[in-house]
Amino acid sequence: MHCVLLSETLDLRGYLASEIDRLRDRITFVDHPCADADEVRLAVAWDPPADGFSRYPKLAAACSIGAGADSILRCPSLRAGVDVVRVVEPAQAQMMSGFVLWHAIGHQRGLPIYRDQQRRQLWRRIPQRAARDIPVAILGFGAMGSRAAQDFAALGFPVRVWSRSARPAPQGIAAFHDVGGLAAAVEGAEIVVNLLPLTPETRGILDARLFARLRRGAFLIHVGRGEHLNEADCLAALASGQLAGAALDVFAAEPLPADHPFWDHPGVMVTPHDACDVSVPAVADTILATAAALERGETPPHTVDRVRGY
Ligand code: GLV
Repeated sequence: MHCVLLSETLDLRGYLASEIDRLRDRITFVDHPCADADEVRLAVAWDPPADGFSRYPKLAAACSIGAGADSILRCPSLRAGVDVVRVVEPAQAQMMSGFVLWHAIGHQRGLPIYRDQQRRQLWRRIPQRAARDIPVAILGFGAMGSRAAQDFAALGFPVRVWSRSARPAPQGIAAFHDVGGLAAAVEGAEIVVNLLPLTPETRGILDARLFARLRRGAFLIHVGRGEHLNEADCLAALASGQLAGAALDVFAAEPLPADHPFWDHPGVMVTPHDACDVSVPAVADTILATAAALERGETPPHTVDRVRGY
């Protein structure tokens, strides 16, 4: 099956290089713009060009190379009826959960204080707080949100989760859903973790109203998409002390511009959209499973609901 590579920001052929041989019998990768456009039934896409999909009339599915497929879903040339597929990999959820816990425990245990003390050769214990006293709100309860929720709960943190649609949660995890449940999920939380997909409903969800509901001195861990965060509201909440700190991995503009105040804000840790990595073999498996489903005339696994956006 012919599969076109569509990205304005990544060299997808280079990215997939280690797997191209394994896929060779089933998949012929072609670069965009491709001369045999009528042969193309499949695309691998990440930040595709705005008119990228319009050239391929027989395209049946577009695979993301990540957990999110928002850059495909918002591409204006994506036709109705094209299945959009994301990568779901347990190891990725585990890696994400580790990243989130690293920051959460850093906040709980006062890591920045120890760093500062070490710089000053200061030997001073600081009062420690038990996990049970630090309520955590996790926004997003998909593969990654549920992994993180279980890991937080296993460490003794009280956990609430919020998702747009109702999903059953394991015992000990309080689940909230729908727009109305958001306030209850975050009320009084000390750590808020954003693992939501980007949709019109979740754009700008991390704003002053949400920050005001948190416990004073709360900590934000933001690993969704840059557009979830109202950056000015975040800076204001940090300045007022409503937020004690923030671990930010995703930004409205990436790479983060050189003059952005987040870079040298003492309360902010910036990482370059690196909270977790999808493994290239998992992407290749997703491409193979999608091609196989198309050949059988079935909907590929992990196809996104295009109306809901995830
Ligand atoms: C990364 O942002 C992903 O969607 O996997």
